[in-house]
Amino acid sequence: MKFATITGWGKCMPPAVLTNEDISTFLDTNDEWIVTRTGMKERRVSHVSISKLAHIAAARALAAAGVAADDVDLIIFGSCTPDEVVPNNASYIQLLLGIKKAAAFDLNTACTSGMYALSVASAMIKTGAVRTALIIGAEVITNIQDWKDRNVAVLFGDGAAAFVVQGTEKNEGLLADKLGCFAESRDILRAHGIGMRYIDGRSMRGGVWWDFHGQEIFKKAVLGMCEAAEEAIAQSGLTTETIDLVVPHQANLRIIEAVGKRLKIAPEKIFINIHKYGNMSSATTPVALVEAIEEGFVKPGMHILLPAFGAGLTYSAHVIRWGERVKPLSLAEIELPPCEKTGLEMIREYIECPRAAGSC
Ligand code: UT7
Repeated sequence: MKFATITGWGKCMPPAVLTNEDISTFLDTNDEWIVTRTGMKERRVSHVSISKLAHIAAARALAAAGVAADDVDLIIFGSCTPDEVVPNNASYIQLLLGIKKAAAFDLNTACTSGMYALSVASAMIKTGAVRTALIIGAEVITNIQDWKDRNVAVLFGDGAAAFVVQGTEKNEGLLADKLGCFAESRDILRAHGIGMRYIDGRSMRGGVWWDFHGQEIFKKAVLGMCEAAEEAIAQSGLTTETIDLVVPHQANLRIIEAVGKRLKIAPEKIFINIHKYGNMSSATTPVALVEAIEEGFVKPGMHILLPAFGAGLTYSAHVIRWGERVKPLSLAEIELPPCEKTGLEMIREYIECPRAAGSC
């Protein structure tokens, strides 16, 4: 196929909210600091596994595309907080959806994982290797949070989104993309405690601590997002003036504003939902795009720019021409189980009993 385009979209947001006021009950912080420094008001805490969130988001994306599970021949699970490493998380989503023969793999570039997945799936579609891909950006980052560290604890939340990407002969979908990584900046954002080098038992909840050089990340984020955006826009044959909508990674409102200013894109063209969810890492840009569609910001034929960055320090920018359809073909009859606890109650449990539930 000549082109690869998004034909289905879906998200799954856990219902439990953790507000700035909630966090200030156990950390030395306050609503005013968090809002003025980041733009965040609240975030979500998942009461279910990442697989459950991703399964529902994916089922919604398939329904929106009108695609039968068995037509999917590639699943990419973008995340840095999978349920398991071996076997991978993508194969579990495959099993849950009843997909029979898809290729399935996980992809981790931290916050850009969902966007890297869009590049990989589109490229594989264009080579003819696959026809219909399901890509997922999901994160349950509250599980690897250091709830004693106010520098990071206020910034993140949980969520998931998925897209169906399909081959088409129509000139739409991914027009251009630029992926990159400032590897020399690996050390400015690191979650210690996850991975084989920490196999001494100090891992996962309560055993995770972060290196986080906020201002360095800020600068590299703006640089990476802007350079990638400029390159992707040029490659697409468009100009910044002909970009209709920007759906950026939502890590800090001030980062988004700096990117808009440097690219000379008017603030009213930039979609923002950071106040509701904070930074959901791999899920952030995917959830933002789904909400931009659901809330009527995406119109047929629009040119959309998606700039993102994450630990690594990875960065990306995608330029897509949206197709004709902005409404789902159908809706999936699948919902999360009810959540009996508040966000604050769940976080207090993590703090009091940092090992995974059941092991205390
Ligand atoms: O997707 C990748 C995720 N990473 C990011 O998004 C990070 C990008 N960086 C940022 O978003 C910003 O740098 C932050 C929001 C993390 C921090 O904002 P800042 O304007 O760079 O603040 P700062 O780090 O310079 O800290 C200013 C002050 C410090 O106090 P002193 O030294 O001036 O007395 C901090 O200790 O704010 C203090 N501070 C806090 N105060 C209340 C840091 N965190 C908090 C907090 N509540 N949560």
